[in-house]
Amino acid sequence: PLPRPYQVRLPRPQVLAPVRSDATADHYEITQRPALLRILPGLDTEAWTYQGSFPGPTLVSRSGRRTVVTHRNQLPHPTVVHLHGGHTPADSDGYPTQLVHPAGGAAASGMAAMPGMDGMTGVTGTTGAVAMDSGDGGTQRTYTYPLEQRAATLWYHDHRMGFTGPNVWRGLAGFHLVTDDEEAALPLPRGERDLPLLICDRSFAADGSFAYPALDAAQTRPGVTTRYMDGVLGDTVLVNGAPWPVLDTDRARYRLRILNASNARRYRLALDPQPPGGGGLVQIGSDGGLLAAPVAHDSIDVAPAERFDVVVDFSRYPAGTRVRLVNRLGSGGTAEVMRFDLGGGAVADDSRIPARLSTISAPDPSKAVATRSFLFQKSAGGWTVNGEEFRPGRSLAAPRLGTTEVWRFVSDFHHPVHLHLNHFQVVSRNGGAPGPFDGGWKDTVDVQPAEAVEIAVRFEDYPGRFMLHCHNLEHEDMAMMADFTTR
Ligand code: C2O
Ligand code: CU
Repeated sequence: PLPRPYQVRLPRPQVLAPVRSDATADHYEITQRPALLRILPGLDTEAWTYQGSFPGPTLVSRSGRRTVVTHRNQLPHPTVVHLHGGHTPADSDGYPTQLVHPAGGAAASGMAAMPGMDGMTGVTGTTGAVAMDSGDGGTQRTYTYPLEQRAATLWYHDHRMGFTGPNVWRGLAGFHLVTDDEEAALPLPRGERDLPLLICDRSFAADGSFAYPALDAAQTRPGVTTRYMDGVLGDTVLVNGAPWPVLDTDRARYRLRILNASNARRYRLALDPQPPGGGGLVQIGSDGGLLAAPVAHDSIDVAPAERFDVVVDFSRYPAGTRVRLVNRLGSGGTAEVMRFDLGGGAVADDSRIPARLSTISAPDPSKAVATRSFLFQKSAGGWTVNGEEFRPGRSLAAPRLGTTEVWRFVSDFHHPVHLHLNHFQVVSRNGGAPGPFDGGWKDTVDVQPAEAVEIAVRFEDYPGRFMLHCHNLEHEDMAMMADFTTR
């Protein structure tokens, strides 16, 4: 039995303190472990967590401050950590076969050491490549993030080949915020009024456990069952791990850092009621940080993995209003997200939204040294990029560092296409102007059915093997990924 919406408080994920800091770096330790969480009333949900919570703890780093995170795996299965939106050297980028093994070994996992257990049996036929990588991983791994990048709302999540969908569904996701001097100098809402909101849908079994329906019975086979190839949708919307929560809200400006951490669900988020005059969601940032100037929206479309940084001025509403954040693409429970219960009195608020937020030096598509096309399409047994299912080590492009390229994504279905390493700018949709939600630096772009989206990206700093993939996690687990190699 599902809880009714708007019965619980909005949680705020804890900020993780470094275990030590030195002149150039902050060091963090995260243990990945199962934990019993109280998500539904009266029931325990066993989650796979970073450090015992879902979402995982929030990391906050200053731009350019090296952040070193050691992950220990006490879960029953291998994992991989990717910092989504991080400008990260290849060896710390969380390539999907660079496994962190369970500390208890296969025996502790309750699974016999079956041949192919770590391998991609079936969907992509890459058992050999996986076995090659899985041998060199220990039960912990240290990821080093230079974070030579602008302030932005990043997130970290599991990226294990063939199992990213179930691993993230069970709780392996958290925020990593990057701050910088430019952003800190702006009079934006801060402190309690700077709110990360991790939005995702989930389903639960009668005993309260997360129900991920798409695995085979033994749960050892990568990828999803045919029925769920289009993606797994849940019936319950969680914000920061709580079902349809409520926040007691001042009548003041709030910065909402919206992340769609769902496996496959897209949202059209809107305030209900809208403030008088509309335009209640004032976008100030996208995946890669601040926009040049704010943009007011009545609603925003958010595909999996995208971030929208918006400011809502709740003083535009009468005292005591209950403002729901709703999903216009949902129905029943999935049409509701969370509620802001406004206080009565006037409160102090010295924040504002400057007309100029940042200076963006976008890559110039007319300077592109190459234009490449990537076709995202269904195949008989999975999902493909340029007709190929993912095979580790086979690179579809080899851009040169220091150059700009135009990449063209063509799709048969909804595919939120994500690039590792560098943020990009959307140049066009179907040959016309970019859409209303394409502004600013992006790392994930919502490519809609039968669309062609062009982006301009400048490849910078780090040579090596990176990923390009669909961020519908079931498409990703069904092989809609490709390598590119910078040189
Ligand atoms: Cu958010 Cu390659 O992933
Ligand atoms: Cu897809």
